[in-house]
Amino acid sequence: MSGPLRGRVRVPGDKSISHRALMLLGIADGEARITGLLAAADVRSTAACMAALGAEIQHSDGEVRVTGRKLQATDTTLDCGNSGTTMRLLTGLLAGTPGTHGLDGDASLRRRPMARVTDPLRAMGARITSTGGCAPLHIEGHGELAGAEHHPAVASAQVKSALLLAGLHAHGHTTVVEPAPSRDHTERMLQGMGIQLDIDGRRISIAGGQVIQATDVQVPGDISSAAFLLVAATLVPGSDVVLEGVGLNPTRTGILDVLGRMGADIEVVDHRIIAGEPVGDLRVRAAELSATEIGGDEIPRLIDELVVLGLAAACATGTTTVHGAAELRVKESDRVATTVELLRALGVAAEARPDGWSVEGQGRRPLVGARLQSHGDHRLALTAAVAHHVVPGGVGIEGADAMDVSYPGLPEALARLSR
Ligand code: S3P
Repeated sequence: MSGPLRGRVRVPGDKSISHRALMLLGIADGEARITGLLAAADVRSTAACMAALGAEIQHSDGEVRVTGRKLQATDTTLDCGNSGTTMRLLTGLLAGTPGTHGLDGDASLRRRPMARVTDPLRAMGARITSTGGCAPLHIEGHGELAGAEHHPAVASAQVKSALLLAGLHAHGHTTVVEPAPSRDHTERMLQGMGIQLDIDGRRISIAGGQVIQATDVQVPGDISSAAFLLVAATLVPGSDVVLEGVGLNPTRTGILDVLGRMGADIEVVDHRIIAGEPVGDLRVRAAELSATEIGGDEIPRLIDELVVLGLAAACATGTTTVHGAAELRVKESDRVATTVELLRALGVAAEARPDGWSVEGQGRRPLVGARLQSHGDHRLALTAAVAHHVVPGGVGIEGADAMDVSYPGLPEALARLSR
């Protein structure tokens, strides 16, 4: 267990908003600046793909200038790295961009399901071939997509966004009716850039042929990255930390609701709206946690935070359960299996379920030191970095470099706060 975490920290820029800013401005009319863009591997994948397709992207003085272009096919296969958001959103964007496009990624991305975007896009007339429903993908982009109404089976912002981006280049209206609300950054940013959307609850419609107007984007801090510090400061006794400028979009704040009902002491200070997104500072102080049940419509609002919430559950009193989260099985790793393995390595009784897990909290009993495996999954590596400060004597991390995907500086931020 480290000493108390104390001080102020600014978490890295929101990953979802960073991807979208590069893609939307890359096809916009005009030039605009992005401040606070996440400097991490996933976003570098999107920037490299957009640049290869012709968008002008220049880094200068901590900001990024993007000049939109009519995208052009490139001879090379576009490398989406580890990033599902890059691959799925680009598939939607390129379906209506004339030319031949290839999309590929690393071994983890090649295992992830792409039929959830390619099937509905084909229903709009897209010509896409996959490799058994997975990457590599081959897209024959053309200008004759037809708007359609889609009812995706999973609440996925990546699927919704891919379809809306295809709809921008399609004839007529494209409509997505979500089974439960997923993050709405694409909708907010499109509207902020002059695109007319029809939004009626979970039904979102876009008319084809509209042109995005380049507009500056200020990227808030990523609540999914803040989650690691929220859990660390809650679990390390005596901690008192302020996280500055964290995005508080209600489609993303499930972590605050869950930690709140477990007994965490988190206060939102200075709530404000920046570039169409709610933002605030979060003050978090150490607290004792009790178990909770996590499921239902809450899942899409905290899907990326469930791994680190597993660690919080391990230190709570009572048994915490997660259900309705089968999506965890198809993330950067099978996060049901890998999270349960990580918790067991720390001496915690955890059981996998088809769509979640149950974790017997240790209460005040200390976790045991171990060598934890990231399985190449950034959220596992980052959770292990938090565990290092919670477990007496610390932990070892196998595959710590996976943190580069979303939050390269977390171990350093934790070390600075514990000094
Ligand atoms: C994301 C959506 C979520 C999330 C992912 C980022 C996005 O995925 O897990 O990390 O930026 O749209 P799904 O759309 O598959 O739920």
